[in-house]
Amino acid sequence: MTDSNNFPIPEQSLDRDCTTLSRHVLQQLHSFDADAQDLSAIMNRIALAGKLISRRLSRAELMANTLGFTGETNVQGESVKKMDIFANEVFISVFKQSGLVCRLASEEMEKPYYIPENCPIGRYTLLYDPIDGSSNVDINLSVGSIFSIRQQSGDDLTGEATDLLTQNGRQQLAAGYILYGPSTMLVYSLGQGVHSFILDPSLGEFILAQENIQMPDHGQIYSTNEGNFWQWDEAIRDYARYVHRHEGYTARYSGALVGDIHRILMQGGVFLYPGTIKNPEGKLRLLYETAPLAFLIEQAGGRASDGHTDILDLVAGKLHQRNPLIIGSKEDVQLVKSFIADREKRERDGEG
Ligand code: AHG
Ligand code: MN
Ligand code: MN
Repeated sequence: MTDSNNFPIPEQSLDRDCTTLSRHVLQQLHSFDADAQDLSAIMNRIALAGKLISRRLSRAELMANTLGFTGETNVQGESVKKMDIFANEVFISVFKQSGLVCRLASEEMEKPYYIPENCPIGRYTLLYDPIDGSSNVDINLSVGSIFSIRQQSGDDLTGEATDLLTQNGRQQLAAGYILYGPSTMLVYSLGQGVHSFILDPSLGEFILAQENIQMPDHGQIYSTNEGNFWQWDEAIRDYARYVHRHEGYTARYSGALVGDIHRILMQGGVFLYPGTIKNPEGKLRLLYETAPLAFLIEQAGGRASDGHTDILDLVAGKLHQRNPLIIGSKEDVQLVKSFIADREKRERDGEG
């Protein structure tokens, strides 16, 4: 086989025919118009943040002031790690220079962070979890960053971010995560499939690894913190008892949502973080954890629910709103939901 210049056409090689993230975003949007250029530039900035965080994580124990706690508590009442603050500030600084994002909201900031110089131009909000799975940082296990891009409506300079409290998750323009594992991986969706990229450190580029990832309809894995069994509703306990008593299930739980979801995206299964006695709404936050991951998982053919409502149909009541999460392969999410529906029916029928 030869090409139009009579050159032999070599076999495809991932190593050489690299599709970079920025090229991929523009291909996805089938356009070079202003909106497409904006989204491509925002994704490039997110990728830059990922590279900076990845670089620091890869040397963390060799550098001063990288590991351990700051001694502060964040708005969620959780102890803050030095890496949480570093990563939070990385996102702010890469977007300060972008001109594209007017407002950032993250787990580590009580109120949104405004970049006033971008506000007349920047029509986008970035929602993010700078380090997901912080408890893994000090022991060199996988962590992630989660991101979501939304169109900003109105001139929200009051700090109330009311427009975010009227939109559901289907209005996300893009969402994804960066997984800092043995390699650094970026997985994203613009609402047209889910695509993964690997950071090649020698090129400093995220290179396309897999396009249009579709997850299995069922998988063996169930991923949940069973230490909370005593705090769960009876319906979730029914599900746990079911998987304990049937062949074909296996437990995996890493303490970092991004890693656990990535495994389920690739291999199928279900991740659960239900409500507990201490936190009836669960632990995970809608705007920068569960909604972006639900967007990806639905794009890959999976489902995400709070037990009753699809995560993507939920509207946050406040910026740091939490919600119960059942996410993964559609048959496995349906199985968990069936235990919830059964218990509710029995309660309605007075069977207790
Ligand atoms: P974060 O580090 O952003 O606060 O998120 C931690 C989350 C999530 O990554 C993980 O699935 C879950 O918390 C683990 O919580 P438990 O320790 O309660 O199981
Ligand atoms: Mn998190
Ligand atoms: Mn976090």
